[in-house]
Amino acid sequence: MRFDITKVVSLVIVVMLRYCKGLSMNYYMMSCPMADFIVKNTVNSALRSDPTLAAGLIRMHFHDCFIEGCDASVLLDSTDTNTAEKDSPANLSLRGYKVIDDAKQQVENQCPGVVSCADIVAMAARDAVFFAGGPVYDIPKGRKDGTRSKIEDTRNLPPPTFNSTELIKMFGQKGFTVQEMVALSGGHTLGVARCSAFKNRLKNFDSKNDVDPSIDTQFMKTLSKTCSAGDDAEQAFDLTRNMFDNAYYNALQRQSGVLTSDQTLMADPKTRPIVNGYAMNQAMFFFDFQRAMLKMGLLDVKETGQVRQNCHKIN
Ligand SMILES: *[C@@H]1O[C@H](CO)[C@@H](O)[C@H](O)[C@H]1NC(C)=O
Ligand SMILES: *[C@@H]1O[C@H](CO)[C@@H](O)[C@H](O)[C@H]1NC(C)=O
Repeated sequence: MRFDITKVVSLVIVVMLRYCKGLSMNYYMMSCPMADFIVKNTVNSALRSDPTLAAGLIRMHFHDCFIEGCDASVLLDSTDTNTAEKDSPANLSLRGYKVIDDAKQQVENQCPGVVSCADIVAMAARDAVFFAGGPVYDIPKGRKDGTRSKIEDTRNLPPPTFNSTELIKMFGQKGFTVQEMVALSGGHTLGVARCSAFKNRLKNFDSKNDVDPSIDTQFMKTLSKTCSAGDDAEQAFDLTRNMFDNAYYNALQRQSGVLTSDQTLMADPKTRPIVNGYAMNQAMFFFDFQRAMLKMGLLDVKETGQVRQNCHKIN
């Protein structure tokens, strides 16, 4: 067999283009070598004083990428003529803006105008996963910041009331497999939901509702108790809300998922084996999660465009 170097090289190029577009792991190696380090330090020190921010940072990256691609549109403030994503009710689950602002400011001090807000959001999510005990992984960088942020675009986020058929469809439209969707749902290993997001489950199920009505009786009482404190009362997704682990999937096995969109993954025979697999094998969850996050971080990224000076507004 002849070793054909041109074939190997072209294969490598195809793979790079396919997975990394114009981005690369060491995109800032020359222009801002401290970028990763600065973001990691900022995230770590913020999470040391408030570990609950980890969930917010992961959620922010997800929200950013699902709308208009990973372009920091989620950070733009509304203006006189435009109502931004930020002002949608979906904003309620977003936290950690200050962490991003802090990191951006420090990076700007080192290398002004170089590191995009979109990359900082992606790096912060990565660092939050690791801080909370999840997998370590590197991500390609080189995203540019977008200029569009519209409140109506947030309808492209999966609502908490979705069943697994709807989730598979919505994630599928973004190019995710069923398995990747279930792995990304595991981001709920961190954080809380508000009562307003799950109180639909506390009413009696009508017979037309084909989402699995089986919810653990004891857990139903827990949810009701949470909601007795009002719509904004918070319920942790699993027993270890600040720890990145597979306890979320164990909760689903106990019929103790918080949202319809959580428990449906256990109810649907298409997703149940994946839930059971992750519940049994945390390493497998970590592996799949990290790969799915990498893929999510490349959704509709902009390779040309601006690097915002201030993440809150376009230049
Ligand atoms: C969105 O969230 C940020 C940070 O929590 C907050 O400052 C802002 O007022 C929120 N916007 C709305 C409309 O709730
Ligand atoms: C999921 O929800 C859709 C829309 O409400 C509904 O048409 C469908 O029957 C549901 N599927 C399952 C499996 O629950």
